[in-house]
Amino acid sequence: MAEPVRIQKLLADAGVASRRGADALVAAGRVTVNDRPAVIGERVDPERDRISVDGRVVGGAATSIHLALHKPAGVTSTVRDRHAEQTVVDLVPPALRRGAPRLYPVGRLDRDSEGLILLTNDGDWANRILHPRYGVEREYAVALTAPLGRDQLARLTAGVPLEEGLARFLAIRTATATETGRMESLTGIRTPGAAWYRVTLAQGWKRQVRRMLAEVGAPVLRLVRVRIGSLRLDDLAVGRVRPLSAAERDRLGGSDRRAASVGEREPARTAEAPARAPLRRRQVIVSLDGPAACGKSSVGAAAAAAVGYRFCDTGVLYRAVARLALDEGVDPAAGPALTELVPRVTLAPDGAGRLARVLIDGHDATDRLHDTAVDRAVSAVAADPAVRAALLPVQRALTAGGGIVMAGRDIGTIVLPDADLRLWLEVSLDERAVRRARQRGIDPRSPEGIAIRDDLARRDGLDRARVVAPLRIPDGAVVVDADRLDFDRTVAAVVRAIRAAERAGGAR
Ligand code: DC
Repeated sequence: MAEPVRIQKLLADAGVASRRGADALVAAGRVTVNDRPAVIGERVDPERDRISVDGRVVGGAATSIHLALHKPAGVTSTVRDRHAEQTVVDLVPPALRRGAPRLYPVGRLDRDSEGLILLTNDGDWANRILHPRYGVEREYAVALTAPLGRDQLARLTAGVPLEEGLARFLAIRTATATETGRMESLTGIRTPGAAWYRVTLAQGWKRQVRRMLAEVGAPVLRLVRVRIGSLRLDDLAVGRVRPLSAAERDRLGGSDRRAASVGEREPARTAEAPARAPLRRRQVIVSLDGPAACGKSSVGAAAAAAVGYRFCDTGVLYRAVARLALDEGVDPAAGPALTELVPRVTLAPDGAGRLARVLIDGHDATDRLHDTAVDRAVSAVAADPAVRAALLPVQRALTAGGGIVMAGRDIGTIVLPDADLRLWLEVSLDERAVRRARQRGIDPRSPEGIAIRDDLARRDGLDRARVVAPLRIPDGAVVVDADRLDFDRTVAAVVRAIRAAERAGGAR
């Protein structure tokens, strides 16, 4: 850790403004420290803290680093993992790190997977690669235990229902013998008898390729990422890191790269073109409520990523308490005994801007929140007034510093009635039932499809009629009517509403 310095000194040393001018920038709310507004005189760590002025990281291109790494299996792609022996960042030689603070992987590649991963300290660039809006493709070489059947192939391209929605490969084909030969010699690992495929994805959900293949009953022997957008793994040796050229960096991260430093950003002042005031954005607090299966979680996460906000789906908190109750044999309707479990649950960022990792007693329980037992127990947990009350401060604390989209059932009504923007995602029961059925590959008019509709109708009834925190449209809410909007348009509508709230400077 470097010696902390006062923020005005750091800004002055970076040539942004004089110390006094820097104070004025801070006072005007134009400076953020790790995405929350800076405070005049606060001390920051120049190596670890991310300081931005008008959304631009101070230091800019001079210290921004863009690297490609060939990750071996067995190395984790999180930056700091107490349990991991080695993380991808450890593989970067000091010369390539150039003392850069906060180098982190762009997205993740799970521990057992290999291949191309990008590392950077440039958040905007990482965002443009990760955000679904830019549709940056990922291509993987996958070794399976046996060739896929026609039916399996059809399901993988038509779409496999996962928790996040319908997952599909943009393309899947058998790998050529040359490709497989090169892959085996590059990695030095042979996989005799394996059936190798090449699959392409535009989505980037956690362990998506493995989960999709598991869903169609095809175990994965090896998974090697061979391409991210325009960048190929090519002959980058296992464990090696190389810096990207400026052209590679720009092709990957889009053409709307901003100028490198705050100083460069001001447009030239001429008599004809008076200087435009730099855009001032205050990151607002957004609540997003709506009925079951209206898509608020996926829409909220995508919109938050598009505007660089954090995202929290509060349903996971209730699920975590239910999980813990089940693990400890506590009756989910046990009142006070349940409340005692709440302090053992914490949320953590997932590396993609979502507060989606749930820790129970400090251990990651994210993957254990969506099984049938939890589904059954969680309604009783969520109906318990003491649990709801105990979770209130937890949820409110997450909004410190603004810049968050928080989704749930009672966020705009109870948890954050003063949110700068209260959103309600409206999707009719029929449409939700059709979408959910299609997600599961079921004909909405079949008896199973009708059962899905009935179940949603029942859940709507329960949510709206419950005594504590019933589901209702918050006062003053902006209603996004998503019945006839596809996913991208719904996300765009939410993003527009957030931008409008930012321009209005928040409602409070
Ligand atoms: O959205 P979900 O299915 O993951 O939510 C899990 C449960 O928690 C569900 O019963 C609704 C409830 N819930 C709630 O009561 N209030 C919230 N803010 C979020 C979820």
